[in-house]
Amino acid sequence: MLKNFAEVISPNSKDAELLSQIDFARLPQHVAVIMDGNGRWARARGKPRIFGHRAGAESVRAIVDTSARLELKAVTLYAFSTENWKRPQREVSGLMQMLKRYLRSELKEVHRRNIKFQAIGKIEGLSEDVQKEIAAATEITSKNAGTILSVALNYGGRAEIVEACQKAVKNLRQKGKSIEDLSETDIEENLYTHNLPEVDLLIRTSGEYRISNFLLWQLAYSEIYVTETLFPDFRRKDIFEAILDFQKRERRFGGIANK
Ligand code: IPE
Ligand code: IPE
Ligand code: MG
Repeated sequence: MLKNFAEVISPNSKDAELLSQIDFARLPQHVAVIMDGNGRWARARGKPRIFGHRAGAESVRAIVDTSARLELKAVTLYAFSTENWKRPQREVSGLMQMLKRYLRSELKEVHRRNIKFQAIGKIEGLSEDVQKEIAAATEITSKNAGTILSVALNYGGRAEIVEACQKAVKNLRQKGKSIEDLSETDIEENLYTHNLPEVDLLIRTSGEYRISNFLLWQLAYSEIYVTETLFPDFRRKDIFEAILDFQKRERRFGGIANK
């Protein structure tokens, strides 16, 4: 694993020191990130909110790059919630514009790194041109076997569960089964994340202690890490710190201490 970082981390840096403390045998398989604080980052600089979103693109690059080098199974980024449509039209269209540009400009690198891209959320509710970029990125990277990068767009956890239940019930009916047969597995198989391992670690930036309708079902036993760092300032070192904190936790899953 260390060799994956040789070209980007110099031996005596803070990153190298943190990396040396990570136990590669106990990495989280799936890391999810609520990318928050772009607006505050911009405001602190007297700039419009979109300035913060643009700066956040560099943090996304750092997360994607680091996840691929750590060979994580999955990384899921919360980019736009079903509630974010409430924001001023100018901000929403700026975000969509950025997203399109990002998908186009990063695709080559994402593909080269063997990353499999997918979007989760009500994708049909996004504009045609955004949907086109998503479809292209999904298709081109569909056979990649490396880290799965899921970007949550027009995503709502409650909506996802409702949709999954509807699909699961429909399947049951088709099999002539009754509603009492509905199991957790039936629901899980119909979530957007059905192809991903459990979320081990949820990171939220900007010091907010809430879930904001993200992965409600999937976070049942995830470890939660909140950092004060605003998303545009989030870099490789912050990911390493989150993972080190995760590795200190004792996960009990409702059982008792394993000592
Ligand atoms: C997160 O940053 C980005 C999105 C929700 C799209 P915010 O825009 O929520 O930034 P703050 O929370 O207002 O600082
Ligand atoms: C959550 O952040 C959504 C995304 C990061 C895309 P918000 O900034 O929208 O959440 P609240 O409003 O603080 O709960
Ligand atoms: Mg916010």
